[in-house]
Amino acid sequence: MNDLNHLAIIMDGNGRWAQRQGKERSFGHEKGAKNVVEITKYAAKIGIKFLTLYAFSTENWKRPKNEVDFLMKLLARFLKSERKTLKQENIKFDTIGDMSKFSQSLKDEIEKTKKETAHCTGMTQIIAINYGSKDEIARAVNKAITLGKAVTEEYFSALLDTADFPDVDLLIRTGGDKRLSNFLLWQSAYAELYFTNTLWPEFSPGELEAIILGYSNTARRFGSL
Ligand code: FPP
Repeated sequence: MNDLNHLAIIMDGNGRWAQRQGKERSFGHEKGAKNVVEITKYAAKIGIKFLTLYAFSTENWKRPKNEVDFLMKLLARFLKSERKTLKQENIKFDTIGDMSKFSQSLKDEIEKTKKETAHCTGMTQIIAINYGSKDEIARAVNKAITLGKAVTEEYFSALLDTADFPDVDLLIRTGGDKRLSNFLLWQSAYAELYFTNTLWPEFSPGELEAIILGYSNTARRFGSL
């Protein structure tokens, strides 16, 4: 049986889920945000320690302005309404990504949520926003240059946004595509990968349970025999 400390999810397929029903893409993002709450609660319940969710990539700014604006507002609304649930469920909130690009009001919501859940000792929910692995690695390299010290794998890991979190054990992507889209490339060096055709709004705790069961029975050799 493998331990599952860190689960990472690329939540893809909101837009297609909505469009299949003749609805706007934003409808899919709304439903996607609701599913974030359901899956987070389930992950905490089954004892996962760290759950990282890819909510907005450094490349997502290329989407039409109205979709970007909608996602930013949805995120702020999500944080406002979820703070209470996170505290109730003893879940600590954190983020990875470059927060400097966000509006002051969104930054305030993020900080407030981190502060109010800082004492929580259950799972840590990490939302990746304005996150891209290449951007994160470039920022870490610049930190190393400033600090003027040669890097080791361990030291470099400590310069990444994920310094406080262990490497990814299992990475799931919903929505049918088989790619990593610039998500946790360094941290997933030995992650087990799982791709499902299920669109994110329909991804259920039951499917997650089945994936985890498969993961538990996989031989993870980390390069040894
Ligand atoms: C991918 O679906 C999803 C995103 C780019 C954003 C993920 C956002 C959410 C799940 C909701 C908001 C999150 C939080 C934490 C409040 P897509 O739009 O690429 O779908 P498509 O591939 O079908 O077009």
